[in-house]
Amino acid sequence: MKVIASAPAKIILFGEHSVVYGKPAIAAAINLRTYVEAEPRNDGKIRIEAHDIKVPGLTVSFSENEIYFETDYGKAAEVLSYVREAINLVLEEADKNTGVQVSITSQIPVGAGLGSSAAVAVATIGAVSRLLGLELTKEEIAKLGHKTELLVQGASSGIDPTVSAIGGFLYYEKGKFEHLPFMELPIVVGYTGSSGSTKELVAMVRKRYEEMPELIIPILESMGKLVEKAREIIVSEIDHREKFERLGVLMNINHGLLDALGVSTKKLSELVYAARTAGALGAKITGAGGGGCMYALAPERQREVATAITIAGGTPMITEISREGLRIEEVIE
Ligand code: PMV
Repeated sequence: MKVIASAPAKIILFGEHSVVYGKPAIAAAINLRTYVEAEPRNDGKIRIEAHDIKVPGLTVSFSENEIYFETDYGKAAEVLSYVREAINLVLEEADKNTGVQVSITSQIPVGAGLGSSAAVAVATIGAVSRLLGLELTKEEIAKLGHKTELLVQGASSGIDPTVSAIGGFLYYEKGKFEHLPFMELPIVVGYTGSSGSTKELVAMVRKRYEEMPELIIPILESMGKLVEKAREIIVSEIDHREKFERLGVLMNINHGLLDALGVSTKKLSELVYAARTAGALGAKITGAGGGGCMYALAPERQREVATAITIAGGTPMITEISREGLRIEEVIE
């Protein structure tokens, strides 16, 4: 038997970092996917193969603990640890000790703030649970994805695996989510080409929070209120143009607050300003920052904004929201 499952990348529209402190956030799945193929093994071993894992600028292949291309070993090993933990959690859940062979192909750049780790965890859990005959709902898979993140990276709000498993456009707060009305968002994602470590950035914000709570708490509170405002605008009856204009203003405020937390970089801010100058209604970091990606809201200006991002030294991606989260692509009996 063989099962192929896929799970999408995501962008956080509003509320990264503050979501770790129990504030709400808004995120959407996008149409870049990670594919995981799972097969049983007779020898009881767990074997993981990765093809096309997109670490900035290179492709890494590895099998079990052997890394074939040693460059950026850390990033490749990080992906491997999410897959390992995800498989172990499913085996525990199924109360089985079966050998499993997992093969991964991904369109999602690693460490770009697009949720590549969550997507690989969710697709692995989806494929392996189906292989073992375990019937899990998408919510249960999202929870196991969150557990995987907690085991690998320590702190995690759980927003990435939730969006990757469920798909669409979600409002997320403390492990619970609500579907927001689906709308096409004319966005452009800009990739700096370098990666930030979510674990380190979350720890850096935590350190500042502990050292200067009187300064950091109001920033996190503001972010939480901003997300509520964004939600009100999204669910309101006002026309799309007005919605986009108001959301653009909130994106710019959110970027400023993230910069105040210290998670922006020169390159991220350059891409953000380049996008705004080219006519985006708003632009901000998406994800943990420290490199990775920004995104811009650019109705009727996507091509111009993409060009501006390229000129500023970034890689633009014109993406669409993916309605579908985890998908079982194929089951071969
Ligand atoms: O994994 P990333 O880079 O998309 O960032 C996740 C968002 C954070 O709020 C920074 C962390 C979290 O667990 O929510």
